[in-house]
Amino acid sequence: MSKKSIPLSVPSIQGNEWKYVKECLDAEWVSSKGSYVSKFESDIARYAGTEYAVACSNGTSALHISLILSGVVEHDEVIIPTVTFVAPVNTVRYVGARPIFMDCDDYLNIDIDKLTEFCNRECDFTGKELINKKSKSRIKAIIPVHIFGNPVNIEPLMDLAYKYNLKVIEDATESLGSYYTGGRYNNKKTGTIGDFGCYSFNGNKIITTGGGGMIVTNNQEYAQKAKYLTTQAKDDSLRYIHNEIGYNYRMTNVQAAIGCAQLEQIDNYIEIKRNNFMAYRKAVSDIEGLDLIGEPDYGFSNFWHYSLLVDEKEYGCSRDELIQRLSDNNIQSRPLWRLSHLQQPYEDFGAYKINRALYYQKRVLSIPCSVGLKEEHIRKVISVLKNAQ
Ligand SMILES: Cc1ncc(COP(=O)(O)O)c(C=O)c1O
Repeated sequence: MSKKSIPLSVPSIQGNEWKYVKECLDAEWVSSKGSYVSKFESDIARYAGTEYAVACSNGTSALHISLILSGVVEHDEVIIPTVTFVAPVNTVRYVGARPIFMDCDDYLNIDIDKLTEFCNRECDFTGKELINKKSKSRIKAIIPVHIFGNPVNIEPLMDLAYKYNLKVIEDATESLGSYYTGGRYNNKKTGTIGDFGCYSFNGNKIITTGGGGMIVTNNQEYAQKAKYLTTQAKDDSLRYIHNEIGYNYRMTNVQAAIGCAQLEQIDNYIEIKRNNFMAYRKAVSDIEGLDLIGEPDYGFSNFWHYSLLVDEKEYGCSRDELIQRLSDNNIQSRPLWRLSHLQQPYEDFGAYKINRALYYQKRVLSIPCSVGLKEEHIRKVISVLKNAQ
């Protein structure tokens, strides 16, 4: 991290990354075949607590394959939160299905009450399929996204999915290491409860492989099929016979080597992220009009990103003015994504009673959260937050 500027979220490469990558290069195993790919898969499966893990080229491809394996096809509908990075929404369109957008709760995650109300009131259940009364389309799956590391309120969501025969694809791309601290999923990690869990190892994530992703599942058939589809659906590797349409979605050995080294450090990373969050929170509690979104009482967050809430009236400066003030001081920050249901390609799709998300969209600001953040960086961010008032 440069002394002058404080970036939002950059990787920390301090462990065995060089050593493992050198081993790949020395052995000349750089592409998808190589022992680090299967090692990274088994390391992630062990860490997450699932039977299987399948390495992918990124989190987006992991989500795409999970949708295909969930049996989502053209004209189906998929329930998804409007507060999310757009990637999972795009994957719904990759399979020709239509998103139905849901509001968020106070942790920025999918609003379970409205989700339940939507399924109970706006849909008919045939005993096998959930049908949207308005569009007459089949709703096939839900994609809960564990936003910024905070676990989704998954228990009622799983009850609903069970009741209405919906597949659950957890977008846990931002929440590797987060887990539940009570209820029937006590101690279970995010990504391991639904039919599929998807992780991302993009450069800004809690651990990185540069670019990469992973599907985790406890279903052997899904895992085998995921590996088949991500490696071009090769039915005969000598004659190159393909009985299905496959994808070039496999992670490379060099990426996996970096991933193995990064995963060795994740407990330390999470501890640092949590300590830095507490330091920010203590300082922010003295600033009127600012607050940080914490973790829900049912879960433990990896605190991948820190969400500052700016109340313009009390604080005396708008969220967007604050972004500029931080930027003038070489501090990178980022407003919450534009809501998905308001993005141009998605304006015409269904959105159910969205209002809380509109409130948060105006107020949330992500502030620097890299693992390499030092005390002096936090002090500098805080002093700008104090002086911008
Ligand atoms: C919520 C969410 N879903 C999906 C993705 C896609 O992951 P990737 O960039 O690895 O394709 C990301 C991050 O990039 C994300 O934040």
